[in-house]
Amino acid sequence: MSGKLWGGRFTKSAEEWVDEFGASISFDQELVLEDIQGSLAHVAMLQKTGILTQEEAGQITDGLKTLQKRAEHDELSFKVEMEDIHLNLESMLIAEIGPVGGKLHTGRSRNDQVATDLHLYMRTQAKEVITLISGLQKAIVQKAEENVETLIPGYTHLQRAQPISFAHHLMAYFWMLERDKQRFQESLKRINISPLGAGALAGTTFPIDRHYSAELLGFEGIYENSLDAVSDRDFALEFLSNSATMMMHLSRFSEEIILWSSQEFQFIELDDAFSTGSSIMPQKKNPDMAELIRGKTGRVYGNLTGLLTVLKGLPLAYNKDMQEDKEGVFDTVKTVLGSLKIFTGMISTLKVKKEVMEKATKNDFSNATELADYLASKGMPFREAHEVVGKLVLFCVQKGCYLADLPLNQFKQASSLFEEDIYEALNPYQAVKRRNSAGGTGFEQVRSALEKASKILI
Ligand code: ARG
Repeated sequence: MSGKLWGGRFTKSAEEWVDEFGASISFDQELVLEDIQGSLAHVAMLQKTGILTQEEAGQITDGLKTLQKRAEHDELSFKVEMEDIHLNLESMLIAEIGPVGGKLHTGRSRNDQVATDLHLYMRTQAKEVITLISGLQKAIVQKAEENVETLIPGYTHLQRAQPISFAHHLMAYFWMLERDKQRFQESLKRINISPLGAGALAGTTFPIDRHYSAELLGFEGIYENSLDAVSDRDFALEFLSNSATMMMHLSRFSEEIILWSSQEFQFIELDDAFSTGSSIMPQKKNPDMAELIRGKTGRVYGNLTGLLTVLKGLPLAYNKDMQEDKEGVFDTVKTVLGSLKIFTGMISTLKVKKEVMEKATKNDFSNATELADYLASKGMPFREAHEVVGKLVLFCVQKGCYLADLPLNQFKQASSLFEEDIYEALNPYQAVKRRNSAGGTGFEQVRSALEKASKILI
């Protein structure tokens, strides 16, 4: 025997570097508590079904609890020769309570064990992500509530298009995050099922009770097919894909924060805690955290692509390739949780430079649509109105002025429909206020959206 727990099948002990290459303990120790949790449920099931005696199960349970306490205090030291978290813990258990510890693995395999661990881990982490998304949404709502009547240019093609409420702009991200949160919530029903008891691939000859261990672990059901239970990682892919979409949203928001805090825009100022200076240019205040979140989005995409690629060619059932599922998942969890925490702090502390934003809505042609709407509301076909206003804009550009600077007779020359109230229509505040269609930027709409949002967050 080579000293390994599966050593019966091998005559020679593997070279050290092969051990190291094949081992996953350096990263799957992240699953130590989940592995013990799964084993505790498994041994309780073995006792209930009479596969182990009460005494055997009692000894194993006590041993596992001892290991659990040590794990919680970070007192376990793992060995590369023991390959992974499952074999490390099993050998520690045997060292702790003697050969009876070897009975724990009755009716299960590392294949259903690792899948169970990962389901338990993903369940905890998905819930944590959901909580942190809610926290960020709260910060957005708060900032938005302070800025309902703050005007900012709205853009298309990064060209000024129409003035909008800054709160409306912020709230666009609230709703994106709301859908992100829902995706994580909905994924929980696929994460929360038990692969335990699927065995290596085919089930087991022991009279196990999979429903019982599933129930002990808080799973809502069991995988119906033992091959499926140990072969798929679509629940992890779903988490990665939901994370990728959410990071894409955070990345776009980051990009806007970076633009808005630039010298060119000067719409916001980031708190010192979320920006850094330059080692050479004393004037600099860099939006590092926003840039990093934008940058880290790339690694989450990479982790998703990585796991999709690992899985695409695998015949059923378990293949060692699947050991590659974990690092990308752990890295994504760390990245997503970190990004959400940082983003929440960055949003709640940023200073809005209302005057600069509002000034930007005045010195441009983003009120041109108002003119066209004005004519259209007086009966002129919109296409014609568009043409009339286009000519007025050209006239202003050539003269070096804005629409509101033109005298009334100039407007009247372009169309007899123009009256004195045209100046009111050109005012960006009025332009925003009047866009009162459902989901639009009108202040009334924004206020009712904020109310709806606050109810969602309770
Ligand atoms: N360390 C392995 C993994 O992460 C556990 C499952 C190993 N199963 C096996 N038959 N080699 O996938």
